[in-house]
Amino acid sequence: MMAEKGGYKHFMHKEIHEQPRAIADTLRGRMLLTEGDVHFETWNLTQEQVQTFTKVTILACGTSWHSGVAGKHMIESLARLPVEVELASEFRYRDPIVEKSHLVIAISQSGETADTLAAFKEAKRLGAHTMAICNVIGSAMTREANLHVLTNAGPEIGVASTKAFTTQLVTLYLLAVKLGRMRGTLSVEGAQEHLTHLTQVPKMIEDVLKCEPQVKRVAREFMNAQDFLFLGRGPMHPVALEGALKLKEISYIHAEGYAGGEMKHGPIALIDEKMPVVVIAPKQPHIAYEKIIGNIEEVRARGGKVIAILDEDDNQADTLADHVIRIPAACALLAPVVATIPLQLLAYHVAEMRGNDVDQPRNLAKSVTVE
Ligand code: G6P
Repeated sequence: MMAEKGGYKHFMHKEIHEQPRAIADTLRGRMLLTEGDVHFETWNLTQEQVQTFTKVTILACGTSWHSGVAGKHMIESLARLPVEVELASEFRYRDPIVEKSHLVIAISQSGETADTLAAFKEAKRLGAHTMAICNVIGSAMTREANLHVLTNAGPEIGVASTKAFTTQLVTLYLLAVKLGRMRGTLSVEGAQEHLTHLTQVPKMIEDVLKCEPQVKRVAREFMNAQDFLFLGRGPMHPVALEGALKLKEISYIHAEGYAGGEMKHGPIALIDEKMPVVVIAPKQPHIAYEKIIGNIEEVRARGGKVIAILDEDDNQADTLADHVIRIPAACALLAPVVATIPLQLLAYHVAEMRGNDVDQPRNLAKSVTVE
């Protein structure tokens, strides 16, 4: 069993460390740098079809829903198509508006989640073009879809999703570039620039994994906390949601992810000296850096403990935080991939230190095939 885990104690830990390789596999053969284009093996949409799309609807659950929220930022920014991200379990019970000009994308690691599959079938019945982004080849969603794109993360055993999430993000980025080129919102040079950023991601993930000893120290200090708050703005908002979900799934500590600007509308009331707040604040123009720094100050003023995720060269915010975890600077839309890694490690180490069954947390299943 230890051999299957490659020397790691848990599959989740192994899968966290597999991410540089998994992401390289997601990218392999798909980036056409010279042409400034993306090649998906199964792609079957014509330029005319893509140009008639008026909206993208993303359907997903759990961690996959978080990658959908990040994907919204990517597709809206690069392809200038409005994107709505729907919880699959809500979508089908509320007479959704679906038209033939809509592209409906299901995101699912397993390709079998009952709520996502049912919502996806409903969207197809209503006449939308359907695309599945899945990790499991031959899964129900890939069979149901007009078009499917595989994330190629390799099998994910740990119930808490890690490499499936980051490979979904990278796949969505590739898709945003592809749609941008086909819709004419991205030039060849623009696409080349985005693809060049993508080629750097596996190495960046290798580098960010080196923060593990520091994350472990943070985990030890806060392993007995009762609550955690995660804050992020813009593309870092879904990272905050995912950081909170990872922690609650395996450590059983109550955690909430919030968009930084919403803190004053509620969570600020919870902050006291017992409350660790993870602030995800890479220095990117889109991420309203100054505003998130304002959030750090608000937390500190109320005695809360700040764990800040900052770019490696950020010397402005580090004096404000109680703990700083540094990540390599990535462009705004790819920073979620990099910034997620320390949060996965934090959840893992807190759960491990608490003696929990990390790979099989109580009450959760890897694939939920009941509605
Ligand atoms: C379960 C898993 C989560 C996962 C969610 C959606 O709740 O425990 O890790 O994010 O299902 O799964 P999917 O396979 O559709 O991505």
